[in-house]
Amino acid sequence: MFDIDTRLPVPAALRPSEYTAALIQALRLDAGRVRGVGVLEIGCGSGVVLAALGTMGAASLCGIDIEHDAVAASTALLDDLGQGAVAELHRGDMWRPVAGRRFDLIVANLPHFPMEAVEVAGRLPTWSSGGADGRSLLDPFLEGLRDHLAPGGRAVITHNAFDDLDRSRALLAKNALSLRIILTTLVYISPEKLARMTADVLRAEEGRTIHRHGPYTFGELHIVEIAAAKAGAGTSA
Ligand SMILES: C[S@@+](CC[C@H](N)C(=O)[O-])C[C@H]1O[C@@H](n2cnc3c(N)ncnc32)[C@H](O)[C@@H]1O
Repeated sequence: MFDIDTRLPVPAALRPSEYTAALIQALRLDAGRVRGVGVLEIGCGSGVVLAALGTMGAASLCGIDIEHDAVAASTALLDDLGQGAVAELHRGDMWRPVAGRRFDLIVANLPHFPMEAVEVAGRLPTWSSGGADGRSLLDPFLEGLRDHLAPGGRAVITHNAFDDLDRSRALLAKNALSLRIILTTLVYISPEKLARMTADVLRAEEGRTIHRHGPYTFGELHIVEIAAAKAGAGTSA
């Protein structure tokens, strides 16, 4: 019999999503590389990705979120799991709270669904929306990696397949970074979310990275790893 942990209230708006699950699964595939490293998560939400990395043996856990409730929830979760002593949580925008600092492992499940900022399914408008092309946070995140990855460091992030992976590759290549896909899975897209998806993106991607079966729609989601490009290597996956 499994005991349900009811000690911490879990705000419904911060419940972990399929994106979060896929990100944790990808990190678990290579858990040995987490042991002893300094971690940063941008957009830590519930704090569960940091908690999973703490369980895998990360030496320090730094989280940033724009929402006060997310910082409070992450702090409470990490404290409750006995990881508070190695944790540091900041409320702030993207890279700002860690200006000038570098990390061995940077993770993110950023809002990058191509739609304008709205509240969907009880989530705050800052949860999923990446602006019309899905890239309003993705691009500044990718651009900031060069200044925040420690030598030999890497980033592992969620990347919707319908958010132009080649554009991410080109942007990273300018900073001598390259991207490889660790895993690809399908995530359910609710009718509510689909109705708000940027029409041009839906038109271009339906049948390619977005798959409809009657009333049910799924989108392809990649978990990608970003690291220094190997000398002489191309930028393909
Ligand atoms: C899709 S959620 C990911 C949550 C987290 N990975 C989890 O599973 O609980 C995206 C998170 O990014 C945060 N966020 C949105 N804009 C941000 C910004 N400019 N800087 C930092 N965090 C931001 C949101 O508040 C939200 O918690």
